[in-house]
Amino acid sequence: MFTSSQMLDKMNAHIEALRFTRSPKGLYAPVEYVLSMGGKRIRPVLMLMAYNLYKEDVARIYGPATGVEVYHNYTLLHDDLMDNADKRRGKATVHKVWDDNTAILSGDAMLVLAYQFISDCPTEHLKEVLDLFSQTALEICEGQQMDMEFEHRDDVLANEYIEMIRLKTAVLLAASLKIGAILGGASASDAEYLYQFGIRIGVAFQLQDDLLDVYGDTAVFGKNIGGDILCNKKTYMLIKVLEHANEAQRGELKKWIAAETFKADEKIKAVTLLYDEIGVRTVCENLMQQYYTSAMENLSAVNVAAELKTELIDLTKSLMHRKL
Ligand code: IPE
Ligand code: IPE
Ligand code: MG
Ligand code: MG
Ligand code: MG
Repeated sequence: MFTSSQMLDKMNAHIEALRFTRSPKGLYAPVEYVLSMGGKRIRPVLMLMAYNLYKEDVARIYGPATGVEVYHNYTLLHDDLMDNADKRRGKATVHKVWDDNTAILSGDAMLVLAYQFISDCPTEHLKEVLDLFSQTALEICEGQQMDMEFEHRDDVLANEYIEMIRLKTAVLLAASLKIGAILGGASASDAEYLYQFGIRIGVAFQLQDDLLDVYGDTAVFGKNIGGDILCNKKTYMLIKVLEHANEAQRGELKKWIAAETFKADEKIKAVTLLYDEIGVRTVCENLMQQYYTSAMENLSAVNVAAELKTELIDLTKSLMHRKL
């Protein structure tokens, strides 16, 4: 049995050794750029860990594990363009180093590469894995579309937000775990419990991402702080502010949301002040805790020896306190 940090080392070594030698260079250089910037590699690590609940020969599934990471990185290229984000993993985003069209096309190439890597998996499970992956990839598009549409609405409900982050973020963590389980030969019920565990840690993960977008430290988080505020992203914190604000606070918030011209740092400062006054950080942390607790219930139901689950439990705990 391997620790999560051993899994991370394995995945990093494997991804580092990949070469994208086809031409034109201009298409593949951004692929190498984004894959070489690190990242937590949480999705392939989860896949290997789920597999490792059943089997030891984790190298057998480096194909699909690489595939989910390449797929995730593809979503980042397009997401950064959509979110107008300048910084990722401490470096300039692809559309800033190159241009918008490069982010679109190199992203498209990464989506295809992701399928090639995922298809490199034991044939007896190929159809089930590809079906799950395709469904997941569509759901992520659905979540991303909802995320964009919500920017233009002021009446987004908390349950709509949760559904949006389930789709844009949680399903990929869940599918990574389930693919690991399927490839490891888990029972259908174990695979499903691991999927549900992934949904819950995934929702907590995106709540934390939204929190760090306001309260994180750029030098550690690797992304610019306040990006969600500038885009009027309807995060759980913003929804809760709209819910709990008094007349004056609501007026102030609506003024910033409607403003067409403003200084970015002034808007971030003013909206963050409203978050602080209303105390939505704690509200967000409490919800994360609830998802964490229910995730642990799903993990408990997985029918393998308790000691095999300790690494997944420790990794989940560390994600709850992550700063990047
Ligand atoms: C960022 O994902 C996008 C979200 C779903 C929040 P990660 O936080 O996993 O990013 P990296 O891969 O570690 O950079
Ligand atoms: C990302 O959500 C979800 C996907 C990339 C599919 P965010 O837009 O919050 O992710 P970051 O903060 O840019 O990493
Ligand atoms: Mg983004
Ligand atoms: Mg986004
Ligand atoms: Mg974010």
